[in-house]
Amino acid sequence: MKFFVDTADVKEIKDLAATGLLDGVTTNPSLVAKSGHSNFLDLIREICAIVDGPVSAEVAATDYEPMREEALYLVKNLPRNVAIKVPLTPAGLKVCKELSEKGTMVNVTLCFSPAQAILAAKAGATFVSPFVGRLDDIGENGMQLIADICEIYMAYPNFKTEVLVASVRHPQHVVQAAKMGAHVSTIPPAVIRQLFGHPLTDKGLAQFVADWAKTGQKIIP
Ligand code: E4P
Repeated sequence: MKFFVDTADVKEIKDLAATGLLDGVTTNPSLVAKSGHSNFLDLIREICAIVDGPVSAEVAATDYEPMREEALYLVKNLPRNVAIKVPLTPAGLKVCKELSEKGTMVNVTLCFSPAQAILAAKAGATFVSPFVGRLDDIGENGMQLIADICEIYMAYPNFKTEVLVASVRHPQHVVQAAKMGAHVSTIPPAVIRQLFGHPLTDKGLAQFVADWAKTGQKIIP
């Protein structure tokens, strides 16, 4: 499973890229606003230089023509590893189809149903982003949506779209998504850090350090 980080915070991206475990980045208008950056394209260029993998940059327009213009402008002015993010609407899917046919990576976002995921695959999306946390928030079952989409996509090998699990709230979302065979999880920085931790790892390491000290040895003389 690939790990993307879900943030527009450059410092966080640099820290997590240093682990060598980061495969890409997703941003959205809310995350860009939170970052405080005033130049969206410069921000995405900076992120694209830190991470080799796909970096999602989302259009702002919602109507087809202006959305298409924005998408083409982003493609023209951003590095090759950018994935244009469009909403799962008729306009977004139309832009997705056009960009995908030209070889541009597209991330179709705000997916909340299996039917929408089928449309994204038919439009040639590189990624579809089902939002699990936001479904859980309204009392629905976010992970069931991932299971449904994985099952459908596996039945159609000609669907090349990768399932990018989004709106991840905790490590169990990531583990369950991996068990279902989802291709990617985009994860907030704090949740990525939670993935590393287990109290028995800390306890075991403290014991090993103490016991090693008793031997009085050094591995490198
Ligand atoms: C996906 O690409 C979105 O940026 C993100 O996962 C949304 O998550 P949220 O529901 O925590 O805002």
